[in-house]
Amino acid sequence: MDNKKFYISTPIYYPSDKLHIGHTYSTVQADAMARYKRLQGFDTFFLTGTDEHGQKIEDKAKDAGVTPKEYVDNIVAGIKDLWKLMNISNDKFIRTTDEYHEKAVQKIFQKMYDKGDIYKGSYEGLYCKPCESFWTETQAVDGKCPDCGRPVIKASEEAYFFKLSKYADRLLEYYEAHPDFIAPVSRKNEMVNNFIKPGLQDLCISRSTFKWGIQVPVNPEHVIYVWLDALTNYITALGYNSDDESLYEKFWPADVHLIGKDITRFHTIYWPAFLMSLELPLPEKVYCHGWVLLEGGKMSKSKGNVVDPVVLADRYGVDTLRYYLLREVAYGSDGVFSNENLINRINNDLANDLGNLVSRTVSMVEKYFGGEIPAERVPGEFDDEIKALAAETKINAEKNLDELRFSDSLTAIWKFISRTNKYIDETAPWALAKDEANKARLAEVMYNLCESIRIISVFVAPFMPDTSAEIRKQLGIGELKNWDECGVFGKEATFKVSKGTIIFPRIDLEKELAELEAAQKSAEPVNPLKEEIEGVAKIGIDDFAKVDLRVAKITDCVPVKKAKKLLQLTLDDGTGTPRTVASGIAKYYQPDELIGKSIILVSNLKPAVLCGVESCGMILAADAPDDDVKVIFVDGVPAGSKVR
Ligand code: ME8
Ligand code: MG
Repeated sequence: MDNKKFYISTPIYYPSDKLHIGHTYSTVQADAMARYKRLQGFDTFFLTGTDEHGQKIEDKAKDAGVTPKEYVDNIVAGIKDLWKLMNISNDKFIRTTDEYHEKAVQKIFQKMYDKGDIYKGSYEGLYCKPCESFWTETQAVDGKCPDCGRPVIKASEEAYFFKLSKYADRLLEYYEAHPDFIAPVSRKNEMVNNFIKPGLQDLCISRSTFKWGIQVPVNPEHVIYVWLDALTNYITALGYNSDDESLYEKFWPADVHLIGKDITRFHTIYWPAFLMSLELPLPEKVYCHGWVLLEGGKMSKSKGNVVDPVVLADRYGVDTLRYYLLREVAYGSDGVFSNENLINRINNDLANDLGNLVSRTVSMVEKYFGGEIPAERVPGEFDDEIKALAAETKINAEKNLDELRFSDSLTAIWKFISRTNKYIDETAPWALAKDEANKARLAEVMYNLCESIRIISVFVAPFMPDTSAEIRKQLGIGELKNWDECGVFGKEATFKVSKGTIIFPRIDLEKELAELEAAQKSAEPVNPLKEEIEGVAKIGIDDFAKVDLRVAKITDCVPVKKAKKLLQLTLDDGTGTPRTVASGIAKYYQPDELIGKSIILVSNLKPAVLCGVESCGMILAADAPDDDVKVIFVDGVPAGSKVR
């Protein structure tokens, strides 16, 4: 038989904000799939990683006073820890800052460029020359720069473009010929009707206004703009365009790119077009899952409602969280996370259904047979029913898993778990145990229960690997090797069980809800300001001493004609020579209000010309709520006094 291969990827995550249960959902799905395929004997490659370039990261690093690489290194370490905690079995973790990736992406750019699919064009916008910033029509206020208030001019920035428009027809043809390429199919219709049919624009793939990116090979002034850098990770991770392309040869095209629905366009339009340009095969399937929402809507850091997977995993166990996410969120749809929902699932599905089945069975085998089921057994009523359902469950679990319908697969598996519990009630072992004449029948009932549980340990293995192993330990059977061990009764000759821990303890709902809320609160960044302040790079007293702060008195104040935002202040700084400072506070103060007031001056700031005014220094003011600004007044202190 040919060596079967399976290649699945998750999105590569931005190492900016903390990852939450939404990201965890994404990765856990891919992990379940990879584990399932490995058990089926597929040579499996499971890829995840991080998407580390771009302006946002550059800005954040700057704010934190570290290099972009230092900034991402720290966060990426946390992401790797999270995946380790969640038992994610990825075969590779790619970082877009890895050297092999950067080199391969440059070669990819070059290939597309040489082919004529990349051209130099211009990116149009409104430009503020002194600020060196581009603004859109809506961002610019009355034709002025929103930062400094000076007029902006129509300008264009040189940029490289990819001829996306050229591929529109080929994309439509491809979708037509490969009806399973985009799943669920509703996403395909969205792409065709909202993006391709109205006409594809060429895609801007470079920037020259920031530096944190992979250099454009044909022009060192430019960096490659994110999606060409990010999407190509799926092939560079396999060594494409490197010295060793053996993994690429073996695993490409990918079997599944698993992504969240918000990035469908990039994966089903841009990425296939890039691949067509490179003349490479396209992935078999792009599966677009829904979002994990909270009752109030989407999780977001600014709303402060991010649910931390580490808190949940520590409290309930990794497998519980994996199960919950995979069961609760239906195929392709959004799912709503709630603490109550989670605890109900734990109590009903895990503690009652699965946990009880295992502990009752193991206890009975110990009680009736001292732990080892005797060889002499007789079949009876109900046996065939559970055997038939096991076989049917295998078919349903597989069919659903093959389509990435994790929740439906678990529903089928739980039907079998419930049926097995019912088998206990039907056969009533406690009644059989009363009469020695029923011993062989009792042995068969126990054997069937153990076989059912063994089969369940296979079914749940992709979803809950540790639980599967614990169940097998209690049954006294070895490590799971092969998916096909499920579905057929009679694999083990007998069972020698031993009681272990309760795999899923029941939880007191009321009490737990209160505690959980408190735990989540304390794990969250309670106060974003605290994070922000703690994130600012520390300076020594020597650095601070470089800033000369003085009290100065405002002796005159007039508006600056050419700039709406500016006031021109004349200051008495104690030296006897009047000093001029331009300050962007015209929106907040009338000139009359300021004359005669004493303020704090940064006296040793290098002079700068602002809209025709030479400004020698800067005055201190604080941001106040509702976009207001308050100048700091120190009335009653003589001009020239040092502020320390
Ligand atoms: O988009 N529920 O990165 P990202 C479910 N770097 N999924 C969620 C979610 C939620 N609440 N929130 C986010 C990027 N996700 C790019 C990808 S791939 C070449 C580049 C999912 O960190 C989201 O849908 O913003 C996306 O698939 C993934 O997390 C990464 O998001
Ligand atoms: Mg995103």
